[in-house]
Amino acid sequence: MIEILKQIPFFAKLPTEDLEAIGQKVQMQYFGPEQVIFEQGDYGEEMYIIKRGKVQVVRDFAVIAELGDNAFFGEMALVSEEPRNAGIKAISEVEALVLKKDDFRELLENKPSIASSVNYEVVKRSNTLL
Ligand code: CMP
Repeated sequence: MIEILKQIPFFAKLPTEDLEAIGQKVQMQYFGPEQVIFEQGDYGEEMYIIKRGKVQVVRDFAVIAELGDNAFFGEMALVSEEPRNAGIKAISEVEALVLKKDDFRELLENKPSIASSVNYEVVKRSNTLL
């Protein structure tokens, strides 16, 4: 798992001991084309980092973005405690790393570099939802 984490820019800058700890917490999940990963309005329990593949972000029946390798999604509901503001559908085979809410929050509290890249995306994405 460490070798996988090292290839993902989201984690790559962290020292090996942190990657070892994170490696204990992340899980790999696999989705097929057209598979719904979660729906808009769902309660959020985890966030996802795409190792390989492509997803669509669907809000109010419209595709508002596509995300590919190394992008993350599902972070907003964990930060805001609000329901998923969009649904996510795989449009190819997708391999994703999945991190549970408490582990993600711990990462944000303890790793400023990760917190700032997440915050940057959250602000940017929030602006597109206005
Ligand atoms: P969350 O609200 O947990 O679930 C839906 C996810 O879609 C959201 O987190 C973001 O990860 C993602 N998302 C929402 N809006 C955008 C956007 N404009 N661009 C890219 N991703 C988005």
